[in-house]
Amino acid sequence: MQTRTLGPFTVSAIGLGGMPMSMNDDKKYPDQAQAFATVHAALDAGVTFIDTADIYAPSWDTMGHNEELIGKALKSYSGSLDGVVVGTKGGITRSEGEQWGRDGSLKYLRSAVEKSLRALDVEVIDLYQWHRPDRWKVYGDVIANFKTLQDEGKIKAIGISNANVEEIEVAMEVLGEGGLASVQNEFSPRFRSSADELELCDQKGIAFLPWSPLGGTGGGGREVGDRFAAFGEIARERGVSPQQVVLAWELSLSDRVIPIPGARRPESIIDSAKAADLVLSDEELARCSATGGPQ
Ligand SMILES: NC(=O)c1ccc[n+]([C@@H]2O[C@H](COP(=O)([O-])OP(=O)(O)OC[C@H]3O[C@@H](n4cnc5c(N)ncnc54)[C@H](OP(=O)(O)O)[C@@H]3O)[C@@H](O)[C@H]2O)c1
Repeated sequence: MQTRTLGPFTVSAIGLGGMPMSMNDDKKYPDQAQAFATVHAALDAGVTFIDTADIYAPSWDTMGHNEELIGKALKSYSGSLDGVVVGTKGGITRSEGEQWGRDGSLKYLRSAVEKSLRALDVEVIDLYQWHRPDRWKVYGDVIANFKTLQDEGKIKAIGISNANVEEIEVAMEVLGEGGLASVQNEFSPRFRSSADELELCDQKGIAFLPWSPLGGTGGGGREVGDRFAAFGEIARERGVSPQQVVLAWELSLSDRVIPIPGARRPESIIDSAKAADLVLSDEELARCSATGGPQ
């Protein structure tokens, strides 16, 4: 599998999004055996980056569900885990009655990191991402909290998610040269509004992780080739899946892009991983770029 740079790490160009195994639109979750098989299939296919978050759970009182599942799946893998990097996220709260909120305070983030360390069963978190801005706080102050957690040795690298250009610039300034490892924003044929953030990451050498890169769990990912005709047409011409065409197109936009397609089934991630070897022609890429949602 071709590799890309993610902060201090070198990871596979295609990652695995863990979310659908613990939180998705149809609320159908794989049993543990299938979830482990999906993670193991990803690793067998050469995937070395896995994305999760503390809130990826079927319910508020099972927070940490996905982190625990990923942690156990990795521990039960019979192959090598050399170079495998797990990114998790904190900063969104979920409490009784499914009340959702944000908390970027150092006190909250410190407790969230401790819980993530326990759920993943690791000594240090590879990549800790601020999940969504806390509009009650100054952006740079929360980034400084992440830096404190890094200085305390709890996390190796810092990422941000759902950030605009200005927020990325603030994070870069607070963290200094090379301090911001990644930006994780929504980006897919359906959702192209993060193009400016992608371009900034490209210029600054920051990894850009498109979330819901196929269009999401609610059928968007499954039906992307029908919803956005060019991807389906090129897939038929090439004899590959539309999902591979979407991911290959995203990979072509910048060598900083690392898509993280979600999967509940081994077949999905085995297929998606093949996108790293699919090279589209300039003409095909132009057809992909010309289709889809607002830019
Ligand atoms: N930072 C954020 O705010 C945020 C928000 C949302 C998501 N995320 C991250 O982004 C990751 C990916 O997003 P997502 O899971 O929402 O959506 P997605 O990756 O766009 O789509 C996932 C869906 O597509 C299907 N799929 C994946 N690969 C396929 C293939 N090759 N062929 C056919 N179907 C395929 C999956 O099917 P099966 O489930 O049947 O395998 C799943 O239902 C998440 O797992 C999560 O880690 C982050």
